Amino acid sequence: MRQRLYATRRLPIDAGEVVGPEVLVASFEGERAPTGEEIAEGARGSLALLTQVSDRIDASLLDRLPTLRVVAQMAVGFDNVDVAACRARGIVVTHTPDALTDSTAELAFGLILAVARRFHEGEALVRHGSWRGFSPTLLLGRELAGRTLGIVGYGRIGRALGVRARAFGMRVIAATRRDQPFSPDGVASHVPLARLLAESDVVSLHCPATQSTRHLIGDAELSMMQPGAILVNTARGTVVDEGALVRALERRHLAGAGLDVFEREPTVHAGLLSRSDVVLLPHLGSATLEARARMAVCALEDACRVMRGERPQHLVPE
Ligand code: GLV
Repeated sequence: MRQRLYATRRLPIDAGEVVGPEVLVASFEGERAPTGEEIAEGARGSLALLTQVSDRIDASLLDRLPTLRVVAQMAVGFDNVDVAACRARGIVVTHTPDALTDSTAELAFGLILAVARRFHEGEALVRHGSWRGFSPTLLLGRELAGRTLGIVGYGRIGRALGVRARAFGMRVIAATRRDQPFSPDGVASHVPLARLLAESDVVSLHCPATQSTRHLIGDAELSMMQPGAILVNTARGTVVDEGALVRALERRHLAGAGLDVFEREPTVHAGLLSRSDVVLLPHLGSATLEARARMAVCALEDACRVMRGERPQHLVPE
């Protein structure tokens, strides 16, 4: 009998071509994220579950899926998956760490440029017919060359962003977790978080969502940032205390923020929605044809490896 894999969303590629004839791929067909109930129903009898960041994979769902052997998360982050509950049930958890590095770094740099050069304000002016022609004082932004970019979390995406920033003539500094060794790469200098916040013109977040990074950037940290600095978050919404960010923007301590992720997606803090100094994107970090195709292939291949009794290539870290 064919082994069954259930994907919680339609995939951007033909899954059948990746998994081969031994595996039957079924998926949730809605345009929205499925509820836990819908996943439990859809995935019944499946050995593999291919998940997205918007799915909550918790113990009560796993209890309803006794045949499950692998949760293959189509993302680098996996904070939506209760990994301990999976392990306790003998379920392997994989993710797609290499597939989206460039796309996410490109988006982060795009947000830096957009906020520094006020793309969104200019775009709105033109689109709404309010532009009265060239003016030497219109929407003056900040040049990035010669400024300092502080990267919080210097993994794959942080490093890829550093390379891009250096190409723009920026100085790059990076802060990592205390227990994470920093290997010098000629791109960034390693500094403690407090120094990074104090010295950076732009702070970009690239750490995973864990207990210890929850509200890593709150009132105190935002106050440590330079007046007129920019905050960019393409990591996870929970890393920033959104209320504190709104307060820092309201008192004009920061020049602006570029946000691709939010504390309670898809809900966005009302204090952010009303501001023209923030650029808000709907979690698009890996949203390129190339990255999404690689992510789907990576997740499907690892799911198949587990179903064949082999070791997957991208187990989530301990
Ligand atoms: C997207 O948010 C990811 O973690 O890949």
